[in-house]
Amino acid sequence: MREQNETEAAGGGAADTEAENANGRQGQDSSDNIIEVRGLVKRYGTFTAVNGVHFQVKKGEVFGLLGPNGAGKTTTMEMIEGLRQPDEGSAVVAGYDTRTDLKKVKEVIGVQLQSTSLFELLKVKEITKMYASFYDHSVPIEPLLESMILSEKINDRVKNLSGGQKQRLAIALALVNDPQVVFLDEPTTGLDPQARRTLWDIILAMKEQGKTVVLSTHYMDEAHILCDRICLMDRGEVIALDTPRNLVRSLESESAVEFRIPEQEQWDEERKRRTLEQFQTISGVRLAECRKDSYVLYTDHLQSTLTEFVQKTEALRVAFADLQTRTATLEDVFIHMTGRSLREE
Ligand SMILES: Nc1ncnc2c1ncn2[C@@H]1O[C@H](COP(=O)(O)OP(=O)(O)OP(=O)(O)O)[C@@H](O)[C@H]1O
Ligand SMILES: [Mg+2]
Repeated sequence: MREQNETEAAGGGAADTEAENANGRQGQDSSDNIIEVRGLVKRYGTFTAVNGVHFQVKKGEVFGLLGPNGAGKTTTMEMIEGLRQPDEGSAVVAGYDTRTDLKKVKEVIGVQLQSTSLFELLKVKEITKMYASFYDHSVPIEPLLESMILSEKINDRVKNLSGGQKQRLAIALALVNDPQVVFLDEPTTGLDPQARRTLWDIILAMKEQGKTVVLSTHYMDEAHILCDRICLMDRGEVIALDTPRNLVRSLESESAVEFRIPEQEQWDEERKRRTLEQFQTISGVRLAECRKDSYVLYTDHLQSTLTEFVQKTEALRVAFADLQTRTATLEDVFIHMTGRSLREE
């Protein structure tokens, strides 16, 4: 797993060309790369926030940076955008190196920052016009705001917009120069489910128009639905890079069986380990893991695993609770690789 992903992160193509993505598009060859990130490093004093990140983004794809708080997603994006100076490494966007051609890079990218402070007293139309005036080339404003479902708000002040509307305005501002590459840093954080879904549709529409989207998120469902490929980041490093489907497939299991054993709280480590070993022998189980307060069995034969699981717990004389089965997810991949949850601080 790690080997394969490192190959791809370094530009190897086997996984690329084979992989169909979540939206059914075939992988393109490496000459279609619009972003080349080579060995980016960012240090703050003795702390290394980004530690030698390599990847390529293909033209027209939605590329996700997925990782927990502090993984280095924003820092990585800001180095590619030319907003933050790397200590080592380089980023090339549409053929322009951020170190030598920053002005050109800015012409071809659009950026929605993680925390955009908009001018609250301006009207939606005024702020959009102001942003458009920063560029030699900009798109017509009214159709842009219409595409962000903001037509009715065009004469409202920014301070009167809802959270979702503000976020859509921030994206409109990122698109005002008709960029080839759009960077969205956690565009849906803090939004309600309906507002999130509206934004998902907007992001997929950008892709339809041929734009490349680089998106950071710590929502694995969002990454799975939107992204053609996902770069899983943890502690400043790329730990895996592939299509969502291939990442989940790396667990070699379609289903997860999750349950608690209430008496486990009183068990010592040895007892936990022995019980886990027993679960590992159940038919169909590819992987058994003991988490903080639950067990997870990954299986490719759900029915036989469940039957044997019940027999096994009876034989071991342990009572289980809160049994549930579900499809394996990117969250499972992350926990398997790091031992931690995407949602943990
Ligand atoms: N200006 C700075 N000075 C010192 N440390 C910083 C600075 N900016 C970021 N860091 C640290 O670098 C690490 C990576 O931060 P970054 O913002 O890139 O993470 P992130 O993956 O975007 O997290 P989040 O999901 O919370 O947005 C964090 O530990 C953060 O505290
Ligand atoms: Mg961030």
